[in-house]
Amino acid sequence: MTLDQELERAKEQLEAGGVVALPTETVYGLAASIRSEAGLQKIFAIKERPFFDPLIVHISDLEQKEQVIASWPPLADFLAKIFWPGPLTMVLPKNPSLNPLITSGLETVGLRMPAHPIARALIEKCGFPLAAPSANKFGKTSPTKAEHVRKGFEKDDLLVLDGGQSEVGLESTVVAVTREGATDVVTILRPGVVTRDILESALLDRAGDAFEVRVAASAASPGHTEHHYMPNVPLVIIEQEENTVRQKVRDLICQDFEFERAVRNAELRLDSNPRIAARSLYTRMRECSDSGASFIYVIRRSSQRGGVWDAIWDRLTRASSRTYPGK
Ligand code: TXA
Ligand code: MG
Repeated sequence: MTLDQELERAKEQLEAGGVVALPTETVYGLAASIRSEAGLQKIFAIKERPFFDPLIVHISDLEQKEQVIASWPPLADFLAKIFWPGPLTMVLPKNPSLNPLITSGLETVGLRMPAHPIARALIEKCGFPLAAPSANKFGKTSPTKAEHVRKGFEKDDLLVLDGGQSEVGLESTVVAVTREGATDVVTILRPGVVTRDILESALLDRAGDAFEVRVAASAASPGHTEHHYMPNVPLVIIEQEENTVRQKVRDLICQDFEFERAVRNAELRLDSNPRIAARSLYTRMRECSDSGASFIYVIRRSSQRGGVWDAIWDRLTRASSRTYPGK
């Protein structure tokens, strides 16, 4: 089947109240039409996702935003011009016509214009925006390849559009866009590759209103819960400062486990370049948990702070069962 035929099939399924998995540059999404109550219900059902966790709406051109939001502040317009299409989701006042399933009953909605050509082509073809969470069972590791989605939804008869490896590899940065008096406020609800520094330097170049970029307290984004992104076996973070890493690993293993067997393939290694580490993070997490290791460990080095590292460690912390020692 050609790509165009596949897109046509996807459109038909979406129009008929179905769901389709599509590639984006961040992670794969499980999409439904924002106009289809049945499709939206299906997202929650097959993901086993609780209704308190709102969905992100994806558009392919700026005109479509009118179907989703109630107002478009100058700050949103400014950020869209710089970061869209791309891995930034903006939380804005929702259009009253929007199905409350999408927003979990909130007055706001998360909106994003993805960069992946297949995601864009599908939305364009459909002519309606698509609500899409990451295409994984709730709380589990996000998919960055088509095969990850197929494996996660083996029992569901799901059309998966294959767009190769997701280039970014981490979910989009989610920001709330608000105004306090004469100050434009960007609040980071979920960190991503569009980092605080990048947002600040973009806003510094803008003449005009005062601005502030904040990082929200950890659970400010509903659904971005303490335990999330979890692999199938326990993940443990070991602080490098505890320089006897091998001993710590040994401590973690039950007595009756043979050491070498238990730790073989258990280390989740991160590339030293954070953009590359981000891209391969979820694939490596899956490889480790599928390798037969009884747990996974990842060593946190003191140099891995700031910028994209903060987003990587945000996900790893939520994916981990505990940090060793303590916690
Ligand atoms: O990169 C991404 O954002 C991917 C791709 C598929 O676009 N999508 C994704 O969706 O990560 P999901 O459902 O796994 O995460 C969406 C998160 C929600 O859990 C919530 O934290 C936040 O976005 N969110 C959505 N709407 C919101 C709202 N109105 N207020 C605050 N946070 C919201
Ligand atoms: Mg998700």
